[in-house]
Amino acid sequence: MDRSQRLLFRPIKLRDMEVKNRFVHSATYEAMAEDGAVTEALINRYRTLAKGEIGLIIPGYMYVHPLGRTKNSQMGIHNDAMIPGLRRLVETIHQADGKVVFQLVHVGRQTTKDVIGETPMAPSRHRRDPSLFFVKPRAMTEEDIQVVIESFGHAARRAVAAGADGVQIHGAHGYLINEFLSPFFNRRRDAWGGSEENMFRFLKEVFGQIRAALPEGMPLMIKLNTNDHTPDPGITPDLARTYIAWLAEMGIDAVENSCGSGFSFMSAIRGDVPVDELVMMHSSWKKLLSRISLQRMVGKFDVYDGYNLEDSKAIKPALGEIPLMAVGGMRKVSHMEEVLEKGDAHFISICRPFIREPFLVKRIREGKTDEASCEYCNKCFGAIAHELPLRCYYKDDFRELLQKTQP
Ligand SMILES: Cc1cc2nc3c(=O)[nH]c(=O)nc-3n(C[C@H](O)[C@H](O)[C@H](O)COP(=O)(O)O)c2cc1C
Ligand code: SF4
Repeated sequence: MDRSQRLLFRPIKLRDMEVKNRFVHSATYEAMAEDGAVTEALINRYRTLAKGEIGLIIPGYMYVHPLGRTKNSQMGIHNDAMIPGLRRLVETIHQADGKVVFQLVHVGRQTTKDVIGETPMAPSRHRRDPSLFFVKPRAMTEEDIQVVIESFGHAARRAVAAGADGVQIHGAHGYLINEFLSPFFNRRRDAWGGSEENMFRFLKEVFGQIRAALPEGMPLMIKLNTNDHTPDPGITPDLARTYIAWLAEMGIDAVENSCGSGFSFMSAIRGDVPVDELVMMHSSWKKLLSRISLQRMVGKFDVYDGYNLEDSKAIKPALGEIPLMAVGGMRKVSHMEEVLEKGDAHFISICRPFIREPFLVKRIREGKTDEASCEYCNKCFGAIAHELPLRCYYKDDFRELLQKTQP
């Protein structure tokens, strides 16, 4: 191994959590839970990934409250009955010498009445999203806000009880925390909106509840949008810098910066737009509208090496020495090394390449340094939207597959 390659395998500590290398499995929804609970399929998936030598594994987003879930096959951390399954998940990863951080989410407006049984909630009642959920949410009451803030604290306590090594707040991709932070979604004029301080208040309260539930040595991190890419301005890199400066003062332990929301979700993942696969989710008028809006995204967001790094530069001054996790299009080993070498990030965070190649890190350590073989076709994303279990679907005929699996 040469020097720069050794950097990829240099251990790093966040509070008491020592990670054996710089690779992070970025949170990836698996569509494998049953009513929120961990299943054998999830255990098997994470056993394989941990054996693949990924230093830090962040499993798919876990909902902190039943009204804060997008799908029934999403993992939940919303009640104590979830703890034994989550503990098994943690032990499986620990047995293979990996570390595990839970990503906590409330999905806000990005769900449907079919799933949660009522109109989804958001900071404000504003504008139907055009392609995935078609939801015009109801505005949260003061009581709703307090309930959700407390739910994050309870979820963090359960993460500790399950033995997780840390917690990541999901503040990206248009979910509830992102919605409060964004002037596009948050139109409130009370204590929770109207100024940057007020829009930040919800995250500040959530952060406080979580930090209070974690032992001193346990790191608390965040995945935050540095660009919402909404039709009117939401979080921009400049606004993100302000938020990061406040998070730094509050003692955040690491930041993973991403982008996009239900209004432009392809910016988060880039690559091919799985139009046919996603349109098949809908019936009646939604099919046509969804096709139109999805087709508008074709060619709009290019996938290239480290596509969020440009926006990372804007938040770097506010971050100081706080470690950054670079996510998005990390597939060339030489590029990963360069990112670490130049100090642009401390971690290399990867999602799709690990779906296709769970043993990617192991093979890089063994000196087989070809770029990751993921084609960014996004059929895996199309599949989980239908709650098909996560795997690489690159070679599948999707229409045939769905016909086979649907009753
Ligand atoms: C199938 C799939 C599921 C995802 N699930 C999550 C998730 O649960 N939480 C999250 O923060 N991001 C999620 N993402 C986004 C990824 O974590 C990551 O930010 C994005 O895919 C860019 O990384 P990549 O280029 O290495 O795939 C998901 C992406 C895909 C393709
Ligand atoms: S289906 Fe496979 S090749 Fe396509 S984006 Fe997903 S992991 Fe990559």
